[in-house]
Amino acid sequence: MKVTSYLKPQTGGFAFTPENEEKAKGYIARYPEGRQASAVIWLLYLAQKQNGGHLTDEVVEYVAWYLEMAPIRVHEVVSFYTMLYTEPVGEHVIQVCRTTSCWLRGSDEITRACLEATGVERLGGSSADGRFTVVEVECLGACCNAPMFQVGDGDYYEDLTPDSARRVIEALKRGERPAPGSQTGRLSSLNEDGPTTLKDTFPQKAKGTAGGAAGKADKSEGAGDAAG
Ligand code: FES
Repeated sequence: MKVTSYLKPQTGGFAFTPENEEKAKGYIARYPEGRQASAVIWLLYLAQKQNGGHLTDEVVEYVAWYLEMAPIRVHEVVSFYTMLYTEPVGEHVIQVCRTTSCWLRGSDEITRACLEATGVERLGGSSADGRFTVVEVECLGACCNAPMFQVGDGDYYEDLTPDSARRVIEALKRGERPAPGSQTGRLSSLNEDGPTTLKDTFPQKAKGTAGGAAGKADKSEGAGDAAG
């Protein structure tokens, strides 16, 4: 449906920085002439970062103005995607997947561990010190290594247990960035007991159980084997 008229966007005082304006133009240029609305998620994400991690109505309407879209169309996008926040969030946003595979593999316990370790009282809330926000999301596409959560812009922590979930959070509290990936050290989504096919190509059993760093080491070893 083509919208022919709408209220003028109320953009407040928000505007892209010159650097972000450059980026915004680059995103828009990826789409055909007249289809600049296709860049709406890119621009919202960019605006969210510039605004300290969340979108206010004014910021959303600035993006609407920038893309010549009806503000309601942009608000609809914001309300649909879990990567876009309309309330202030903590320094680390933990997105706990609670869809079928993760739920069957213990996402309820992972959620509890996240809330306890961060001091966040409810899903969607933030800790009093402003360091953590814990939210519930639908499938993040890592079902074969369920249960899992995502931290920030795309660090996936997989094969979690309540203990390993707490370990990741404690490391974040210390200002560290624990290695993402399988937290049991398995190679990608390899069978936990080792490969059932291509046995000459991959290690018989993923080594290391102390977290993603071990998984990374296995990965390079496997890659080396494959090359050899
Ligand atoms: S169900 Fe959790 S990543 Fe797919």
